[in-house]
Amino acid sequence: MILVTGGAGFIGANFVLDWIAQVGEPVVNLDKLTYAGNLETLRSLSHDGRHVFVQGDICDRGLVDALLAEHRPRAIVHFAAESHVDRSILGPAEFVRTNVEGTFTLLEAARAYWGALEGAGKADFRFLHVSTDEVYGSLAADAPAFTETHPYEPNSPYSASKAASDHLVRAWYHTYGLPVLTTNCSNNYGPYQFPEKLIPLMIVNALAGKALPIYGDGMNVRDWLYVKDHCSAIRTVLARGRLGETYNVGGWNEMANVDIVNTLCAILDELRPGTGSYADQITYVKDRPGHDRRYAIDARKIERELGWRPAETFETGIRKTVQWYLDNETWIANVQSGAYRDWVAANYADR
Ligand code: NAD
Ligand code: DAU
Repeated sequence: MILVTGGAGFIGANFVLDWIAQVGEPVVNLDKLTYAGNLETLRSLSHDGRHVFVQGDICDRGLVDALLAEHRPRAIVHFAAESHVDRSILGPAEFVRTNVEGTFTLLEAARAYWGALEGAGKADFRFLHVSTDEVYGSLAADAPAFTETHPYEPNSPYSASKAASDHLVRAWYHTYGLPVLTTNCSNNYGPYQFPEKLIPLMIVNALAGKALPIYGDGMNVRDWLYVKDHCSAIRTVLARGRLGETYNVGGWNEMANVDIVNTLCAILDELRPGTGSYADQITYVKDRPGHDRRYAIDARKIERELGWRPAETFETGIRKTVQWYLDNETWIANVQSGAYRDWVAANYADR
């Protein structure tokens, strides 16, 4: 049994589906079901005994202690977070609460639980913290990609809260010996992503005939990774990562935002032709405050030490993604309307 936090969100739910399919080991999934949590994504597991869903808050120490005592997991994989940079600019308090206080609560609960384990159970226990490349701050156009030793220079309330959580995880290893692992990953894309993030927002807006809002000059650069590759990286680090280490995870795929949006429009023009090009809907809007110019991940350490590389190229991953959104318009409509909450109420009597 493993405990996953935030397993109803975009990456967490992809991870739970992937884990059950690839490993088959039971999962207890602790998720608060904020606006970003969506149990409909896990519909295929709703009658699968290997998935135990618990609605709750990672800041609730009593609940976390009770789950650890009841399910005796061999590992905690910690995804739960407030994840959207624009929301963190509008309302940072929830980011500090969930990302910092929530991680602290989990670490303390894990420390007490692990401290009481004995023998092989104690030696094998792992706490894997899922983090982001945004903790490293912004890179100049000609600077080398982030390695694991790059200084932390977070610039948004979101990245500052994630940086704080990374530091707590590190300290719990050095001070208490808690067997931790941290992954710092670049921008994910793929199925089941909430349509507030760049790629799903652009697909959904394009299909709805709405504006495609590009911040600033559109030349901000991100490294993009297909979500299933992030899931396989986490599985790899959990299985073979060295304790106390951090691993950068990325797709070796730097792209400017405007190129991402044009690529999406070109694929949509081909798969769902309209009267003109979807690119005609592109609008340049006011920039995000403190907008980091460039992120780039050097993922050589995880390849060298653990043999992990992404399976998808951007070209293959983005086509699958666009096709998924075209095939799943009901999922999108439900997320936007909140109808999935009615589905949850109809399918789970306790929430
Ligand atoms: P998401 O916003 O889609 O999902 C977050 C999940 O956490 C939701 O299901 C939500 O209900 C849950 N949650 C929020 N607050 C909670 C709380 N207090 N208690 C319990 N559950 C709570 O996020 P995501 O994009 O899937 O990101 C998952 C993790 O991966 C985050 O830690 C994020 O920082 C990290 N990450 C994301 C990306 C990316 O591109 N999306 C890249 C690198 C790292
Ligand atoms: O780098 C990893 C991070 O990637 C994760 O830690 C975060 O949780 C995740 O949200 C993501 O952060 P970004 O800010 O990079 O993602 P977002 O999709 O919000 O924006 C990607 C880029 O696109 C960014 O430069 C801002 C720009 N953008 C975004 C939106 C939503 C636009 O130009 N227009 C938009 O409407």
